[in-house]
Amino acid sequence: MEIKPSARILGDITLPGDKSISHRLAMIGSIADGVTTIHNFAASADCHSTLKCLAGLGVPFEERQSTVVIRGRGLTGLQPASTALDTENSGTTVRLLAGITAACPFATTFVGDSSLSRRPMRRVMEPLRLFGANVEAREDNFLPMTVRGGPLKAIDYRLPVASAQVKSAVLLAGLNAAGTTRVIEPSTTRDHTEIALRQFGVELEAEGGVIEIEGGSTLRGQTVTVPGDVSSAAFFVAAALGASQARLRIMGVGLNPTRTGYIHLLEDMGARITVEGLSLGTGEPAGTLVVENSDLSGMEIRGHWIPNVIDEIPILAVLGAQTRRGIRIRDAAELRVKESDRIRTVAENLRVLGVEAEEFPDGLYVPGQQRIQSGTVDSQGDHRIANAVARTGPFCTRTVSLAKAPGRYLPFPPVFSNCCTACVTDDQP
Ligand code: S3P
Repeated sequence: MEIKPSARILGDITLPGDKSISHRLAMIGSIADGVTTIHNFAASADCHSTLKCLAGLGVPFEERQSTVVIRGRGLTGLQPASTALDTENSGTTVRLLAGITAACPFATTFVGDSSLSRRPMRRVMEPLRLFGANVEAREDNFLPMTVRGGPLKAIDYRLPVASAQVKSAVLLAGLNAAGTTRVIEPSTTRDHTEIALRQFGVELEAEGGVIEIEGGSTLRGQTVTVPGDVSSAAFFVAAALGASQARLRIMGVGLNPTRTGYIHLLEDMGARITVEGLSLGTGEPAGTLVVENSDLSGMEIRGHWIPNVIDEIPILAVLGAQTRRGIRIRDAAELRVKESDRIRTVAENLRVLGVEAEEFPDGLYVPGQQRIQSGTVDSQGDHRIANAVARTGPFCTRTVSLAKAPGRYLPFPPVFSNCCTACVTDDQP
């Protein structure tokens, strides 16, 4: 894919549904009683991995365009899969499903692609073993992983890393465990599992970083609409901020405060971003983001901000080059165990485009006031890297080409074809 310079970013766009929320609604709908209808289900290969795995566990579903209808099997109704479940590239699929299958009275084996097979699973294995499940994996940490489930006993669990996937695995196992399960978070992470469980009728307490769930609740199927993915919006926000003329409205975006750190940090750096029509119901907050071209000062981002912006760090680093003082990221070693080592892939790709970037074990520093050159970059098959680097295209000297863009991860066709073409042409936006 080639992305050419473009000075103007003008238009109204809507984005496909949020990936994290779509995974959770599909999984929770599968263990609810009755039918769950999910509108604006994410157009993402990862969420389709979840649907395929759920089908392997005996959950019937239909998909019509972006609507998915799931016939729930109830809390104890999943069936043994006849073969290993292929979770492909999706960490959320394998870690959350491990939590659900921990209570199933049969063995489930999970496999994944080469990237997922390098990512750590011990972080979910440890709490699931404390619940009483038998979990084995290659080198006690990597896929293939087999979960032999059975009756579970509630646990108190302090998360060693701030991870919404691990928190969710524990909550989903706790749903089916005898007693009250407590999870203690070191820093706040996205709370989509908590919100979805409440939407399906589960009583759950969450205060001061402690979440409590009672085992054995009944879940009732729901009709729900997934808001646009704020992490996809992040790339368009970045594109608009750096253009010489921009007014971009991104409509119906999820604005859950556990995910909007990126917007707040940009505002602190001087970004002109406003929120219109914020709807705060009992489910996920959503609204319209209006973004105008802006000068950004730069900053250091660390500590409790990191879990909130974990998926936006690649694009923040890219933005760093066009700030006045640069952007420094620390406390983000988790980036090294994502779909690629995102500290290294961002730094290496920026250098290919003539942008200086300094790497640390837990982050990186991209000095400000740098000129982006044209070049050919390698996304390493990582969708967030492809999208972050694609954002440099409109501002580079000539053309940025993406080699090995992850076609099967779908970010380009659905995101760009649903949207204005400002980012991919140098003609009229
Ligand atoms: C996700 C949680 C985060 C995030 C990932 C999606 C989720 O991962 O990076 O893209 O849906 O729960 P961690 O839980 O590993 O931080």
